[in-house]
Amino acid sequence: MEFKHKHIIALRDLNKAEIELLLSTAENMREVNSRDIKKVPTLRGKTIINLFYEASTRTRTSFELAGKRLSADTVNISTSTSSSTKGETLSDTALNLLAMKPDIIVMRHSVSGSHYYLANKINCSIINAGDGAHEHPSQGLLDMLTMKDKFGRLDGLKVAIVGDIAHSRVARSNIQGLTKLGSSVYLAGPPTMMPPGVERLGNVTVCATMKEAIQDADVVMMLRIQQERQGKTLMPNAREYSRYFGLNPENVKWAKPNAMVMHPGPINRGVEMSSFVVDGDQSWILKQVENGVAVRMSMLYHVCGGELE
Ligand code: CP
Repeated sequence: MEFKHKHIIALRDLNKAEIELLLSTAENMREVNSRDIKKVPTLRGKTIINLFYEASTRTRTSFELAGKRLSADTVNISTSTSSSTKGETLSDTALNLLAMKPDIIVMRHSVSGSHYYLANKINCSIINAGDGAHEHPSQGLLDMLTMKDKFGRLDGLKVAIVGDIAHSRVARSNIQGLTKLGSSVYLAGPPTMMPPGVERLGNVTVCATMKEAIQDADVVMMLRIQQERQGKTLMPNAREYSRYFGLNPENVKWAKPNAMVMHPGPINRGVEMSSFVVDGDQSWILKQVENGVAVRMSMLYHVCGGELE
């Protein structure tokens, strides 16, 4: 099957077969990451610019490693040291970068929809590394790959997503991807962090309590509280939040005994999850990070037209 998209901006834009293709290519790419010499010539001669307007550890590093392992030339731009601090607009920055002939711009931006805006202005591929509270497609894909690693399938899984749903691009990408691939998604969080009309995002069940969401779940995905996007305080305090919506060794037992526990990172330990759970036997959090490199290799490969050197 051919991947026909020039950009990957949202899992909402991809159908089931396209998501499955990205996941199966990622499974194949993993072999490269376990070699002594972690490099193949697949994207030799391609240029990738990683343009991050927001902080990142996992996404930026793994996009850079993904490009390098495919032999592309990668350049990282942190906007704190770029001319955006002198007032340059996003489109001017992009047009100037485009003059240097990149093949792909990987961008993280605080404004939801900024990637669609840019895709209409420039003629290289755009990959979304997270836009505001909209989507984080590479995170959604790596989460699905990690679930598939454990269960061998996504169809029929009960996935509970708990926390700050309103501000979570991770939740939106997972809802889009998982429901297309046949999982049932259950959401729980404080009412102040549950967006009105969330049911319209896909076939999801909004639960009144955390217990209802994670009862008999195969996967418990905890979200970070997105304080930088909330604008005002949406919870009394961290202790209250943790009491009602934090995962700990007691309430994780509501899920199936072999349930996997996930978090996209960075984690507020002791608030969203206790350290016992973060570091416990059911945690797949570092496997998520490991899978991030292979998923991003797959995304870079497919937006380049899947050309193999
Ligand atoms: N999960 C995630 O996007 O992490 P970073 O913000 O560190 O990239």
